[in-house]
Amino acid sequence: MKPIRAYGMLALAVSVSALLAQEGGNAENGKRLFAEEGCYQCHGYAGQGGGAGPRIAPRPANSGIQYIRRPTGVMPPYTTKVLSDSALADIRAYLGTIQPPRPVKDIPLLNQ
Ligand code: HEC
Repeated sequence: MKPIRAYGMLALAVSVSALLAQEGGNAENGKRLFAEEGCYQCHGYAGQGGGAGPRIAPRPANSGIQYIRRPTGVMPPYTTKVLSDSALADIRAYLGTIQPPRPVKDIPLLNQ
């Protein structure tokens, strides 16, 4: 491949990944925000639920995250004043990376 064409491919790859990151939110930053904004206090660090909040991960991408803007139950609201749309997208991306737990039958210690 000629050098000039290789650069073209690289530029394309870089711009595509930048676009994907923008659309999908930054999961790494979302993880940080999830702790910093106190979501973990009610939902657990992995969104597994526990104390005051229900399990919120894993969940299908996009489902339900807007709930935090205008909750109708006991959860406090997070308006754009305290959590920007891009911060919300990052948290959504983080929740999207959380995998379901392994089934009990696949954990040897729990099958003795
Ligand atoms: C004070 C406890 C508390 C905190 C802090 C909290 N939540 Fe919640 N959350 C709840 C409860 C309780 C519910 C269940 C619905 C309700 O009562 O409002 C809920 C519901 C949700 C839902 C909807 C679940 C569904 O199945 O539709 C999402 C999404 C969510 N929370 C995300 C977040 C995120 C993201 C944060 C941090 C920015 C956060 N929560 C902070 C308590 C909390």
